Amino acid sequence: MKIIHKIDELKDVIKNINKTIGLVPTMGALHLGHASLIKKSVEQNEFTIVSIFVNPVQFGINEDFEKYPRTLKKDAKMCEELGVDIVFAPAADEMYQDTKELTLVCPPYSAINKLCGKSRPGHFDGVATVVSKLFNLSKCKRAYFGQKDAQQLFIIKKMVKDLNFDVEIIPCPIVRENDGLALSSRNSYLDESSRGKALKLSKALNYAKELWQKGIRNKQTLCDSALKILEGTMVDYIEIVNPETFEDWQENDKKALMLIAAKIPPTNTRLIDNMEL
Ligand code: PAF
Repeated sequence: MKIIHKIDELKDVIKNINKTIGLVPTMGALHLGHASLIKKSVEQNEFTIVSIFVNPVQFGINEDFEKYPRTLKKDAKMCEELGVDIVFAPAADEMYQDTKELTLVCPPYSAINKLCGKSRPGHFDGVATVVSKLFNLSKCKRAYFGQKDAQQLFIIKKMVKDLNFDVEIIPCPIVRENDGLALSSRNSYLDESSRGKALKLSKALNYAKELWQKGIRNKQTLCDSALKILEGTMVDYIEIVNPETFEDWQENDKKALMLIAAKIPPTNTRLIDNMEL
């Protein structure tokens, strides 16, 4: 396995391989959720590239860009064990000469004026931009994204369609701890007391799903019941959308996806989770 930091070196290597390429874009601090994406790529492609890049353009000014965990050595070891061919880990100034004068890929307002897009202005422009760059650089045929970032996945699928990227997007299911906590690199910010609170996200989703299975279809009832379980966390949003359109769920929509974002005191770690009801 090669670890590549420079764009020109990546281009040189890719020029000489004539294989189907799978890309797993990550920000590092890899966990078993990432491992499931990587395994799928290794299975489905002849060559797998994992990008590890904490993308400054997708972080807001008061967000955790500086303190985001950076564990390249450990990540590279995991990638090697899983059969990855290239880890692409560029520095910020290798990817962007000037972030202030950057051509951005901007998803439509209707896709970003809600959920994480509403609380994190500019976030999805940053994501769409870096993912476009990574698609162009990696020449991948398939790219793998976790369903935990459901809005991100929706936006990337739309971007691929709208901009005619020749890339197949492969969604991968959320991986959870035994107690239900969705795996996230940001879980490393949690101590024991906040971890208990973090668990409330999956508990709330499971409870709403139970109610749904009992036939309850009233949006307010479903959200209010989940909200009660989230007491002790700082809820950013709790919403139900149609997973195909990401529009507000309507009572005659067959499928419903509940999404939650909450900050977990005392560290104010912002976690997201979602579940199809
Ligand atoms: O989901 C992530 O880790 C990031 O948003 C991504 C897709 C790697 C882009 O920086």
